[in-house]
Amino acid sequence: LIERKQEPRAEVDSSSNWWRREDLFYKGNQLHFAGAPVVSWLYGEQTPAYLYNWQRIQENIRRLREALQSTEKAYRIFYAMKSNRHAPLLTSLAQMGNVGIDACSHAEIEAALSCGFRDEHISFTATGVAREEWKQVLSHHALRVNADSLSDLEKIGNISPGRTVGIRLNPAAGIGYRQNPLLRYADADTLSKFGIPLEDITTAYAIAAKYDLKIDGLHIHSGCGYLSDQLPALQNILETLKPLWQQFKIQSINLGGGLGIPLVTDDEPLDLNEWSAVLRSGLKGFDGEIWIEPGDYIVKDSGILVTTVTQSLVRRHHRYISVNAGFNIHPEPVFYDLPLHPLPTLQRPGEPSSAILAGNINEVHDLWAKNIVFPPVEEGDHIAFLNAGGYGAAMSSHHCLRGNFTERLIL
Ligand SMILES: Cc1ncc(COP(=O)(O)O)c(C=O)c1O
Repeated sequence: LIERKQEPRAEVDSSSNWWRREDLFYKGNQLHFAGAPVVSWLYGEQTPAYLYNWQRIQENIRRLREALQSTEKAYRIFYAMKSNRHAPLLTSLAQMGNVGIDACSHAEIEAALSCGFRDEHISFTATGVAREEWKQVLSHHALRVNADSLSDLEKIGNISPGRTVGIRLNPAAGIGYRQNPLLRYADADTLSKFGIPLEDITTAYAIAAKYDLKIDGLHIHSGCGYLSDQLPALQNILETLKPLWQQFKIQSINLGGGLGIPLVTDDEPLDLNEWSAVLRSGLKGFDGEIWIEPGDYIVKDSGILVTTVTQSLVRRHHRYISVNAGFNIHPEPVFYDLPLHPLPTLQRPGEPSSAILAGNINEVHDLWAKNIVFPPVEEGDHIAFLNAGGYGAAMSSHHCLRGNFTERLIL
């Protein structure tokens, strides 16, 4: 394995307000979100609390749809519900009716159906699926399935011969936020467990022929959180697909998710005009549909996680601020080294100073931020973590039996 050069995680800069938006700003000394002070959305309930702004989710989808429209190809968006499966959110999406669902387990399929989606709205792309689970998944006849491996193709063929399927490919190239190797799903030099390697395509088609499976779609998902600087890499990945859709009869190319958003002050946002230009040129001549299955791009910046300061003290010359939520409530900073920008919901007078922001879990790595410059806060104050709408609540655990939190979709 090659050690990949990763750009150092950018430091949180509490003096810059790069994150400011129409629905997120300070007024007076109060942080406002979705049209009201953050604390007012708690309705007196306990923290930790996730708040999601439905309006922002709609805007994110509208922006994506516009970009896809400008490719002048037919397209479909499947929301990756693994990023956030809050039932009111799924129900609102189902009612809106312009996105489907990307599901990665049979339980997710059932959750989507219970929120108003139908089989034909769902695309299933999963990993390590057991034969029994495939039987459950394939009992939904109108549902789209993608095989992640040759073994999946054998299982699908066995259980449901004659079915139309897609195949998830491993293009041996990854993309992701700030070259973070933890977010690149398909690099040739890492042990990627996903997808059928391009060199196994002939075998894949032979298995499909054995069971009369019709492969009409190609699927790739090469990593998470990519911004504009990664678009040349996306272009290269599209080039590697070209010989396949030129050779085989392919009706849809699913580009997975992975579209990122800025997380720190010097992140340049993903330019969707450039993104759609890459799709236009990379898929020039392809007359089928473009499918995508974003999670984070739709929900990440719609959500904040509100926590409460449990202690603020100096330990060996370092200022430690602890909050009542740890990495089990939002694992991304610890699992993926992804920053969540913290802000006090109340601005107190006084100068910011360097601090370490810690969680309440008995694990040494349970730190929200190691080296930040943060304004004064007191016990009982609230700290809101921005961009917490994706892979937070959905990935939470009950470690230390501190897994309780509330979630609220602000309509
Ligand atoms: C197959 C697949 N599709 C879509 C997604 C959604 O990715 P993101 O939330 O980065 O858009 C993932 C995330 O891991 C995935 O594995």
